[in-house]
Amino acid sequence: MTANELRQKYLDFFKSKGHAIIPSASLVPENDPSVLFTTAGMHPLVPYLLGQKHPSGTRLVDYQKCIRTGDIDEVGDNTHLTFFEMLGNWSLGDYFKDESIQMSFNFLTSELGIPLSKLAFSVFEGDDSSPFDQESFDKWIALGVTEDRIAKLGKDDNWWPAGGKHPGPQGPDTEIFYWTPHHKGAGQAGDEEPPKVFDPSDKRWVEIWNNVFMQFNKTDGGVLSELAQQNVDTGMGLERTLAALNGKASVYDTDLFVPILKAIPEGDEKSRRIIADHIRTAVMMIADGVIPANKDQGYILRRLIRRAVRQMLKLSSDKKDFKSVAESAIRTLEDAYPMLKEKRDQILEELKKEQDKFQDTVKKGLRQLDKLVRIGKNEYVPDGAKFPIFNRVDAKAAFDIYQTYGFPLEMIEEELAQRALVVDKDEFKSEFDEYMRKHQDLSRTASAGKFKGGLADNGEETTKLHTATHLMLAGLRKYLGEGVHQAGSNITAERSRFDFTWDEKVSREILDKVEAYVNEAIEKGAEMKLDVMPKEKAQAEGVEGSFWEKYPAEVNVFTVVGDNGTVYSKELCGGPHVKTTKGMGKFKIIKEESSSAGVRRIKAILE
Ligand code: ALA
Repeated sequence: MTANELRQKYLDFFKSKGHAIIPSASLVPENDPSVLFTTAGMHPLVPYLLGQKHPSGTRLVDYQKCIRTGDIDEVGDNTHLTFFEMLGNWSLGDYFKDESIQMSFNFLTSELGIPLSKLAFSVFEGDDSSPFDQESFDKWIALGVTEDRIAKLGKDDNWWPAGGKHPGPQGPDTEIFYWTPHHKGAGQAGDEEPPKVFDPSDKRWVEIWNNVFMQFNKTDGGVLSELAQQNVDTGMGLERTLAALNGKASVYDTDLFVPILKAIPEGDEKSRRIIADHIRTAVMMIADGVIPANKDQGYILRRLIRRAVRQMLKLSSDKKDFKSVAESAIRTLEDAYPMLKEKRDQILEELKKEQDKFQDTVKKGLRQLDKLVRIGKNEYVPDGAKFPIFNRVDAKAAFDIYQTYGFPLEMIEEELAQRALVVDKDEFKSEFDEYMRKHQDLSRTASAGKFKGGLADNGEETTKLHTATHLMLAGLRKYLGEGVHQAGSNITAERSRFDFTWDEKVSREILDKVEAYVNEAIEKGAEMKLDVMPKEKAQAEGVEGSFWEKYPAEVNVFTVVGDNGTVYSKELCGGPHVKTTKGMGKFKIIKEESSSAGVRRIKAILE
């Protein structure tokens, strides 16, 4: 059976049971900023599960595009994918447990011809707050299932969303498993009969379908209440079911993947599968309007493409193009998602752009990593210490690689492991995360404009003093030399307190000159000019600035220019500043003292 046939059979079956066929929603959720991607078929239907009327009625059927990246490390095994399709049938206050289970049973055994002996089931066992799902249990028994084949499990397994802790519509579920004996190597299922008793931890039982009985809603505050209507939300994994039906051990052996894998160079099977999965997912994301970026959906897309690039480099150093891989992915899905045909060129172009960008840096990054590994290997390893080598010494270095070359953490970890360096994962990760957090805090502060150059407020007086302080720094640099830089500042409406790098007392004579310099610019009524430019450009132009790392990629450069073109000050800054120095008043340095080793502090006012 092909994927197209399975989707069609599913739609046809439920249509014959009074369900309206609805199209797949976008992978990018509309009006829901709480998640980046649609992760389940129920996701786009939440308003209707909560009681809103669906225009197509109370019985719906669809196949829904989904993305889950939580299991990304498992991609490459037989069942995990980042993009997958969920076949779903829905009751919005229409049928409930009995009819839902009956239809699932009929579809599997009559439509698909699966013998009942190859199926097993699980139901919710009940806990302190919710009762055992007797009704589902009884229904399976009534359909001829033996008790041995029904596992009773807790909220982690048989409640949706798992664990029952999340807010939103929810309830107990019953899962259906299919017996898929794996024959090592061949990837072909044998006809070995399953054991009499169902053991949910036996990996040869693959979960293919989940029927959720949504009867409750949980508020953000954690209160569970009965919904106005009883709903059914089901999800059947298209790829897994397809593999099972075709007697294949792996989803990669189905017609959804075989053509994609053909377009990937021979070599390590796991690498090949990761490329196939990630490029397929990237294709679907781009089709839904995501483009590679440094945050949100675009960041996930970027990571997937970069991981694929890396796997491709492992397989082959010259054949790196994803074009034919992506084209194959498009061909396997375009009947189900015709928009892929229209967006084909755009998809290929976005992929190529991101690939080109990353390929240049990946090689440099790997060389840098090799260097670190050499350093790491030379580190002294005390007796009995488990992993003193890399994680302790160089989570910072790894973070630098992340920042400079865009290597995600898992990629760094994998590369280190390949170079036979042991990393204490938890410790390494927590250190790395700490750097990441600091970095994010800083960039968030910078981009939110909260970093205002040490200003306590944006009032007029404070702003004037801020501009005067720029002029003062320029004056200090003029009379003391280029070794003077800002070390800190705190400006209020009353005074400017300014720290700068200098290691001896500044004479009153020099302070007078600096004052005069500032007052000249004020008297001339100089203009404040703002230029926005890339940080690298500002640095290359020698713009004065401290704390460069706190600023985003595009920076503000403030220049105080007199009408004859004299540049009084040119400095990197978050602002705000006055437009003209006219009417700022008279500048006075009232105190000069030591602040800390190598740092002096000045207090100054405008009169
Ligand atoms: N919402 C259920 C799931 O995703 C069907 O498993």
